[in-house]
Amino acid sequence: MKRDILTQLRATSGTISGEWLSSRLGLSRVSVWKHIQALKRTGYQIDASAKGYRLVKSPDTPFAWEFGDREDNIHYYDRVSSTMDIARELARQGSPEMSVVIAGTQTQGRGRLKRVWQSDEGGLYFTVVLRPAVVPQTSGRVVLYAATVLSKMIITQFDINAGVKWPNDILVNDKKLAGLLAEMEADFDRVIYLNIGIGINVNNNPTLNEPSATSIKNLLGEPVSRIGLLNTFLDLFEQSQMMAASPSAIEEWKKWAVTLGREVRVVTPRSVTEGGAEDVDENGGLIIRKKDGSRKTVVYGDCFHRDVV
Ligand code: BTN
Repeated sequence: MKRDILTQLRATSGTISGEWLSSRLGLSRVSVWKHIQALKRTGYQIDASAKGYRLVKSPDTPFAWEFGDREDNIHYYDRVSSTMDIARELARQGSPEMSVVIAGTQTQGRGRLKRVWQSDEGGLYFTVVLRPAVVPQTSGRVVLYAATVLSKMIITQFDINAGVKWPNDILVNDKKLAGLLAEMEADFDRVIYLNIGIGINVNNNPTLNEPSATSIKNLLGEPVSRIGLLNTFLDLFEQSQMMAASPSAIEEWKKWAVTLGREVRVVTPRSVTEGGAEDVDENGGLIIRKKDGSRKTVVYGDCFHRDVV
């Protein structure tokens, strides 16, 4: 109902009478008033006068009702441990594909390779539940594809020179703008769920704690709408999901990758591989040409571009 009230209020810059709203939405005047009060408590600035209601300003908080028809599958929390934890529970309980858990802040935001993901207010932190019809070995493509969609969207919307560092960090001028983390449960031959967690530095200032990170606001010099960003990402990702698990997802990733052709060092707890990043294989493994001329494919690890100081 909040969504319907906001739609009506946003359709005009003027004032809408309570009577009109109640007849239009089939609610009592008291019920309209209660919804308006609830919206005000969550940060919407709404002028209430004898003439009716006027929306002055909306917060950029990704409440479920800001996502149109997706509303029922969006779960927004001001503060959680990690959206990955909540999404895992939802997925295990059978929640549908494209369910999304969003958090204003995370107290235990997780990054790849057991790192902490700083989750200050102003960033966009969410996890999407997917149920791709693929064998577990190819699920990596879906994650790479999500990084591709994100990178492309950032370039198109903001004219920011974003690219993907293997496997799925979004970088701008070698500074980290966003990261993706995947979690999956699978049988031998089928994925039960694949949750993709995405953290985007939007209006926060990660540079304070992490000099090698940046945010959209830092790059543009002004804040941008997290609601708009997430709506666009979900639409683009869902529209092209057919491609996500196919081999062409890898071809698409390559177009936006900033790792191929560079000298890299890939570190795992067990090994360090150095050499030229030549290619990625059909499942997203990075093919490295070592100094001795041999090739090695690494499937996970921390990738450093060696020409970055
Ligand atoms: C990385 O670059 O290491 C991956 C970072 C992923 C961060 C996101 S924020 C939303 C979701 N919840 C988490 O705890 N982590 C992911």
